Amino acid sequence: MSSKEIWEPVTTAARPVTAITLGAGARDNTYGNFAISFPEMLSIVGVAEPIPIRRERYARRHEILPGHVFTTWEHVFERSKFADAIIISTPMENDQPDHYVCAMTFDVGITASFNMEAFTSYHGRRIHIMGSMKDIRGDMQEFIMTDFMTRESTTFDNTAGENDPFGASGHGGGDWRLMYDWVKAVAKQYPSMLTSTIDASIESHLMGFAARKSRLGGTIEAIRI
Ligand SMILES: NC(=O)c1ccc[n+]([C@@H]2O[C@H](COP(=O)([O-])OP(=O)(O)OC[C@H]3O[C@@H](n4cnc5c(N)ncnc54)[C@H](O)[C@@H]3O)[C@@H](O)[C@H]2O)c1
Repeated sequence: MSSKEIWEPVTTAARPVTAITLGAGARDNTYGNFAISFPEMLSIVGVAEPIPIRRERYARRHEILPGHVFTTWEHVFERSKFADAIIISTPMENDQPDHYVCAMTFDVGITASFNMEAFTSYHGRRIHIMGSMKDIRGDMQEFIMTDFMTRESTTFDNTAGENDPFGASGHGGGDWRLMYDWVKAVAKQYPSMLTSTIDASIESHLMGFAARKSRLGGTIEAIRI
């Protein structure tokens, strides 16, 4: 399937959404490569990056005008607006432990645990959701839903298939599906098209910060939204 077939026009404007990336590192290249593969959807028109080789390579790859290439993100905001959107992907301090268990209780009585483990022979994410009638086991490729009564299992295969133009991207194809939703939301100026709302993202960050506080202090932390 070509991008044209899966790409529903999201704007009557005869141009792609334009974006500036703050950074030219790993994430910027993932998102920038979406623009290279689907130029009718997204065009990278500016970059800010302090490391010269990354900055120059990125600017060349996206044919960014010299006046739109900056050494640090602050410089972008000294200019008047020249793009529809900005992608922020500068590195944050990463001081996470190498293994980690977090137990959570939600208001409605749902419990959840999150385990992060560096020492495994495999990588990626795995999820197990246990309901009263069914459970779901999933990884980055597929998830399997099993009915407790009938013992019937249904497999939803998300494997990067030849019919999925986004499937080859990282996180089981999620990187470019996220970009697709994001481009649509920007083009239509319609936030509910986003894969995750800003509110949901803030909420999950607050949970992460509370988990860190709990780990460092040996405390149980409450989260009130
Ligand atoms: N959502 C995901 O799947 C995912 C995965 C990995 C990383 N991340 C997050 O994405 C962010 C970037 O991660 P990465 O792996 O791409 O890191 P990276 O180090 O490869 O890239 C970040 C870039 O930002 C540049 N930078 C630093 N200071 C800057 C400044 N003042 N102005 C402009 N650019 C600046 C760095 O030089 C670097 O090239 C981090 O916050 C990380 O936690 C998200």
